Amino acid sequence: MKKQADYSREIAEIQRIKSQLGEKLLILTHHYQRREIVALGDYRGDSFGLSQRAAADAKARHIVFCGVHFMAESAEILSGPHQTVQLPDKEAGCWMADMADSYVVERSWQEATKVLGENVITPIVYMNADASIKAFCGRHGGLVCTSSNAPAAFAWGLERREKVFFFPDQHLGRNTGHQMGFSPEDMIVWDPSKPLGGVSAESLKRARILLWDGYCLVHTRFQVAHIEAMRERYPDAKIVVHPECLREVVQMADAAGSTDFIVKYVRKASPGATIIIGTEINLVKRLGAENPDKNILTLHDSLCPNMYKINPQNLLLSLRHIGKKNVIHVSESIKKEAGVALERMLAL
Ligand code: 13P
Ligand code: SF4
Repeated sequence: MKKQADYSREIAEIQRIKSQLGEKLLILTHHYQRREIVALGDYRGDSFGLSQRAAADAKARHIVFCGVHFMAESAEILSGPHQTVQLPDKEAGCWMADMADSYVVERSWQEATKVLGENVITPIVYMNADASIKAFCGRHGGLVCTSSNAPAAFAWGLERREKVFFFPDQHLGRNTGHQMGFSPEDMIVWDPSKPLGGVSAESLKRARILLWDGYCLVHTRFQVAHIEAMRERYPDAKIVVHPECLREVVQMADAAGSTDFIVKYVRKASPGATIIIGTEINLVKRLGAENPDKNILTLHDSLCPNMYKINPQNLLLSLRHIGKKNVIHVSESIKKEAGVALERMLAL
């Protein structure tokens, strides 16, 4: 068996620095962070909860974000000028976010609006994207959403314009469209590598929801076959998955929702319940440890290597160089426009 790393020295020093800095320091941790990191944080949550917290805590001078780059960037945009945001490892990115480049998004937008005309589409970007795409949405009358408020964001967009263009997760977009009562024919996938996204002008005009061809490699690993096998072994179990999973998987599950939704779903379940979870493995394992009276199982092991890049060693380095090491910077122009799109989400 692989030996667990011993971080006791680092953890002791982190705790010492934390008590020294007191309210000046805020450590935010995403639900997918490893156990040791979550235990050291001041607040844990899903992307939405963490962005709310970053926007609300004016007392902290230093926010250390234990998550991935797009989350820390959003915290930087929402925080005040007296605050710094650090990400313990700047290489902690997101594969899905990398699937939408701002130049390509801009070019696709030009192509689509050439066919459809101006003021026909509301652009909506998932939190899991670069700040430049959030700025693009702010500039074009759109907003940001997370997995916990995607239906409200789509409704907001469709109240204002006829169509929604959603970047970059086609699965969250499709699952949201279905949840809102749209049929598969109402939704098209836009492949940015092809002219006009690989669709005809007619289907573009007919569609209500345009889905960017992006996906999460961690969540698309969950397959219908995993659900079938688990249902056979545990016929009384409940299955809950993240909406970044494939449509068929979400359809077969008992429930789907953000990481925070999953945490609450497990908490609310009766003692003795068996719950099978389709999301990142660190969260599933922690839920198992925190709910010993329930049987918590994984639908299939799937780890996000980017989330796993944050560890007590690099967290300690950020704290030793507080406000200086691995600080997230966003240009003022991007901050302004992306801030508009993020504030629209927070106001939903
Ligand atoms: P949540 O918004 O549900 O926390 O999800 C973030 C994420 O990156 C899921 O892969
Ligand atoms: Fe990105 Fe997927 Fe990791 Fe979430 S789980 S941070 S979407 S790669």
